[in-house]
Amino acid sequence: MYNLLKGKKGIIFGALDENSIAWKTAERVHEEGGTFVLTNAPIAMRMGQIKDLAEKTGSEIIPADATNLDDLQKLVEQSVEVLGGKLDFVLHSIGMSVNVRKGRHYTDQNYDFTTKGWDVSAVSFHKVLQTLHKNDAMNEWGSIVALSYMAAQRTFPDYNDMADNKAYLESIARSFGYFYGKDKKVRVNTISQSPTPTTAGQGVKGFDGFIAYADMMSPLGNATAAECADYTLTLFSDLTRKVTMQNLYHDGGFSNTGVSNEVMEKFVK
Ligand code: NAI
Repeated sequence: MYNLLKGKKGIIFGALDENSIAWKTAERVHEEGGTFVLTNAPIAMRMGQIKDLAEKTGSEIIPADATNLDDLQKLVEQSVEVLGGKLDFVLHSIGMSVNVRKGRHYTDQNYDFTTKGWDVSAVSFHKVLQTLHKNDAMNEWGSIVALSYMAAQRTFPDYNDMADNKAYLESIARSFGYFYGKDKKVRVNTISQSPTPTTAGQGVKGFDGFIAYADMMSPLGNATAAECADYTLTLFSDLTRKVTMQNLYHDGGFSNTGVSNEVMEKFVK
């Protein structure tokens, strides 16, 4: 432990169960001395074990649907109150595609599903940022991170409309990052993470093949949820104060690998 986040306060969205990237991040932020409010959609919390996490990390839980502006307003106001001051970090760890859930092919989308998916997975990030900004709820040099995936840049057929949602999410980080940097010296980034066995991850068709392929392609192997938590901590810390408006790959080298010997061997008799 490095006490990297001593005295820092924040909000962590998206801890559903112990596999969640947000869950691992909450545990590590706690170890590094940060305090935070945990939040998730009211419906998810009934299923999840978030109370255990709250107890373990001495955190309060404030439910909020990240697509609902009233919920977000209350969340931000109450968090500043509960934590005793403005925030230093926020993690947006939220994603969902109704088309994926309902098994709709990319070429046969139901556009109501599509709209819901981009609202939850991308526009919710803008809503979170806008609510924080309007309430002047972040301290200078604060840091806001959302989680993305490389399907925003390259096609993975079964990732479906989540690919478009991630491209939208990454664009919001750049666009809002400009204004938040100018106005308040707050940084905004996305981390593009390896495939990870979580509830959201396993919702992708053919996930087992997907994750095994990525592992074999990456010189360092896939990055785990715990490693993603570690990387996120560096972005919340004071050691990365001039990093903003970036999409940062955390993928063991996958994104810059054309082919690995291990994958090639599968094609050589
Ligand atoms: P997860 O299923 O544990 O977390 C997704 C969270 O989104 C859940 O806690 C869920 O309740 C929350 N959520 C859904 N709708 C919501 C709403 N309306 N309001 C508030 N919260 C809502 O899965 P995971 O993998 O930890 O996902 C976290 C993030 O990481 C997502 O953005 C995901 O797309 C991203 N990611 C995941 C990868 C993977 O392979 N698992 C790879 C790259 C990025």
